[in-house]
Amino acid sequence: MTSRIAGFVRKNRFPELRGRRKSQKCRRFYKGLPLSCLLAGLCLFSSCGRTTFEEQAGLASPDGRLMLRFGLDKAGSPVYDLSIDGQALLLPGHLGFELRGPLKPGHVSFDGMDAYETDPFDCDFRLLAVQTDSLDETWTTVWGEESAIRNHYNELLVSLEHCPDGRRMDIRFRLFDEGLGFRYEFPGQPSMGHFVVRDELTEFALAADAQAWWIPGDYDTQEYLYAESKLSAISRTYRQVRDYNASQCSAGANSVQTCLLLKMPGGPYVRLHEAALDNYACMHLAVDEKRLVLQSRLTPDAQGWKGYLQAPCHTPWRTVEVSADACGLLASRLILNLNEPCALDDVSWIHPVKYMGVWWEMIAGKTEWSYTYDVPAVRLGQTDYTRLQPHGRHAANNGNVRRYIDFASANGFDALLVEGWNQGWEDWFGHSKEAVFDFVTPYPDFDLEALNDYAHQKGIRLIMHHETSSSVANYERRMEAAYQLMNRYGYDAVKSGYVGDIIPRGEHHYGQTMVNHYLFAIRQAAKHHIMVNAHEAVRPTGMCRTWPNHIGNESARGTEFHNGGGIDAKHVTILPFTRLNGGPMDYTPGIFETDLDSFTGGRNRTQIPTTLTNQLALYVTMYSPLQMAEDTPEHYQAHTDAFQFIRDVAVDWDESRYLAASPGDFLVVARHPRASSLSGSARDFCLGLDARQPGPDERLGRNGLKDVWFLGGVTDENARCLDVALDFLQPGKTYQATLYQDTSDTHYRTNQKAYTIHSQEVCASDTLRLSLAPGGGVAVSFKEL
Ligand code: NOJ
Ligand code: CA
Repeated sequence: MTSRIAGFVRKNRFPELRGRRKSQKCRRFYKGLPLSCLLAGLCLFSSCGRTTFEEQAGLASPDGRLMLRFGLDKAGSPVYDLSIDGQALLLPGHLGFELRGPLKPGHVSFDGMDAYETDPFDCDFRLLAVQTDSLDETWTTVWGEESAIRNHYNELLVSLEHCPDGRRMDIRFRLFDEGLGFRYEFPGQPSMGHFVVRDELTEFALAADAQAWWIPGDYDTQEYLYAESKLSAISRTYRQVRDYNASQCSAGANSVQTCLLLKMPGGPYVRLHEAALDNYACMHLAVDEKRLVLQSRLTPDAQGWKGYLQAPCHTPWRTVEVSADACGLLASRLILNLNEPCALDDVSWIHPVKYMGVWWEMIAGKTEWSYTYDVPAVRLGQTDYTRLQPHGRHAANNGNVRRYIDFASANGFDALLVEGWNQGWEDWFGHSKEAVFDFVTPYPDFDLEALNDYAHQKGIRLIMHHETSSSVANYERRMEAAYQLMNRYGYDAVKSGYVGDIIPRGEHHYGQTMVNHYLFAIRQAAKHHIMVNAHEAVRPTGMCRTWPNHIGNESARGTEFHNGGGIDAKHVTILPFTRLNGGPMDYTPGIFETDLDSFTGGRNRTQIPTTLTNQLALYVTMYSPLQMAEDTPEHYQAHTDAFQFIRDVAVDWDESRYLAASPGDFLVVARHPRASSLSGSARDFCLGLDARQPGPDERLGRNGLKDVWFLGGVTDENARCLDVALDFLQPGKTYQATLYQDTSDTHYRTNQKAYTIHSQEVCASDTLRLSLAPGGGVAVSFKEL
């Protein structure tokens, strides 16, 4: 239902608007304003010495607790604020853009950005119309943390006219019980065909100096540990968390990336991110530490411009989630709800994946991706590997891959990733080389056809690996042939990677061009029925709702950083609140051998700071429909009792319960497997060996299917004892709970592999006491008896 409320003006005053930079050009434009605009501006302006103005439109969340107010200030700038139960969360913050104006006289276009006038598009607006709308629907997920998601919001659309020239801009606000989403929309109009964004000026004006969990603003990498500081202390802390990466470009020492998690003093959590990032640059946030105002800082292109747009069009949603408690943040589906419904008619080929990989042994330094040391510079199609001396440490060889296939098959996995299968790894990285891989030519000791046949006979799919070295133009040229090769040999999933600086040179990983590339790769893959897991790509913004073949991203510091000691204990207690807000992460859990020396023969002295049960818990706490068991067969063989949890655990859920959580401290999650998508050993555990195939809407615990739940809990560097009510279990039923726990002397630095496993009968009225060692975890399976 849409209603038009022309001329709707409320008399509430905005609280004080804290001073902000206002371009001289805005004031100058006032001279030529039509009288009607001036009057509107004057009636909003109070002369009491402080900048105040009247609310022109308002919107409440469905439960009435969140309140958004919108108006124009005296300069005709769009302004909004947000409160909960009458308490201010966001003070008035400005909205708008600086666009690229005409070339200055005497300049030519290659003189750089200074050759152009600035076209301010953040002031001199008048309100044309206000429309409201609402929606309450429930949609079904292809895979996810639950099978159905409620999408319930009230909407406000304000239509604005830029008085000096009649250009139009709309702002659409959606207010959910979980928070706010808003985006800019540019209707098709004769005076605004193509335009270029110099800057987006969206402000989030925090009402207080919140506690912040953040990673440094960077246009090329998100692979950082999280810092925790006051909002006002970000620039002082920035350098402490900004360590080396193969490609990085600071967005400024006062900048952070989203998701930015904040906790208001004594008040709710506030989380800032974006949804549905498409054909636009990824947003960072620059912090004004005195005014506590965060302003959007878009990733620039090679020339410094932020975006090339063509009306009609719109920006991604800017999101402000609000929750009184941390568990509510984990349950929020606001980001997914702001994305478009599934774009694919047929999703039958998309499925959750539990996989192993010929991978960790290379990351740890036991073996290598490359084949030979004989060639300093590979020429694709010319370098003849059959004439070169193999160095003998190439991991993706026929024998080793078969060994992994055998183990993965015997233990009920779906798939095996093989990295280093294709020619080009000898100089893959660090040379700004364009033709680095062709994605179709294997090394001589990797028999593409025979290995795929062997895997398929054993019920395993091989996962393709496309490391692009960020040579993106090269990848796009070769993508169709690469996907065709995958179709020919029966690969249905690809892990892509973007290590190093982007080619075309000067572009950044998170600029508009690259955002378009990542989505292009996903759309093209969908045509070939291929699922995509992209590493080092832009962080997700819920696009997996629209493109559910986008089953994973890394886009944060993942387990690979454990090699060399780059992950602290609290990292996995923060990621679910931040990075995972936009979509699942290929975090690659499952480290069983924490002493890397023991299998690299002295080459790697890393002692990994985690516990074995912490690694088990991650299968539940770090949601992903694509879960890896990252360690090697021999390390799992050394702990087959604990490995049983990885065999049993599901990776796709019809219900999730967030039982206890505090970002940076701990979290405990329980999940209910989705019966229809179970496969392999998880299917055996959840359904029993000779169970019938459940229908798409069937649920474990009903119609003769025994009920099953899984629980995971992780802690930071502190030991914890957590009492968890089991009221998620079905009343009246008895379950066998199998607990994988730390022992009393397990410690993430000194005694990582000490664990205990025991079973007990439990029911819904019980409370389970969970004991977690420092840096430890707990994993539990519940099976109805
Ligand atoms: C970085 C990825 O995150 C990692 O998983 C991969 O093994 C290497 N790049 C090589 O592609
Ligand atoms: Ca990576």
